[in-house]
Amino acid sequence: MAETILVPRMLDAYHQFLEERVKPGAFAIDGTAGNGYDTVFLANLVGETGHVWAFDIQQAAIEATKNRVQVAGFESRVTLCLQSHAEMISVISSDLVGSVSGIVFNLGYLPGSDKKITTLVSTSLEAIRQSLLLLSPHGILTVAIYPGHQEGTLEGNALIDQIPSLEAAGWLIRIYKVPEPKSPAPYLITYERNKNENK
Ligand SMILES: C[S@@+](CC[C@H](N)C(=O)[O-])C[C@H]1O[C@@H](n2cnc3c(N)ncnc32)[C@H](O)[C@@H]1O
Repeated sequence: MAETILVPRMLDAYHQFLEERVKPGAFAIDGTAGNGYDTVFLANLVGETGHVWAFDIQQAAIEATKNRVQVAGFESRVTLCLQSHAEMISVISSDLVGSVSGIVFNLGYLPGSDKKITTLVSTSLEAIRQSLLLLSPHGILTVAIYPGHQEGTLEGNALIDQIPSLEAAGWLIRIYKVPEPKSPAPYLITYERNKNENK
């Protein structure tokens, strides 16, 4: 079963994992653009020669992300998609299967917005299935889960339930939690190819 590791801060942890894998010229995906913080973080890592695709189903999120990307001067390296992440492969092109270095999901609702518009178990699972197809051999997928709302609890349970079958299929999966958290606390699941299994 996936190892559980304590980290001081979830955001710092997944940013560090992405920094280690997403290098200049790389492809990356933000599956939940929201206010665009992760999109800009990835756009900075891929540099002028790489590219980031950012997905959100809310126009307000795409606008907020567009503004943040413009302020950073990263327009030419980011494609904003007002579409569900469950359609990511068809939007990005199946040519990129096995070529994406970093994929980030911050599940839940847009902070300061309608809490009823949230990521959902069925579409999150489908987006994560497609993400695993898109990941490059040394790439990493990070998924932040917020069990403080009902759908977040369901998403987390569904993702944890599928860990054994993904591990059996050669994926290395880790769970990161913060120490002495307030309950229910957000947590992180990361997915990468298990190098030992692929030898
Ligand atoms: C927690 S926020 C993301 C925060 C973001 N990472 C940031 O840096 O600001 C979750 C976002 O997921 C979006 N979302 C919900 N369902 C989605 C779907 N099926 N496809 C893409 N985005 C979705 C919501 O609209 C919301 O903006």
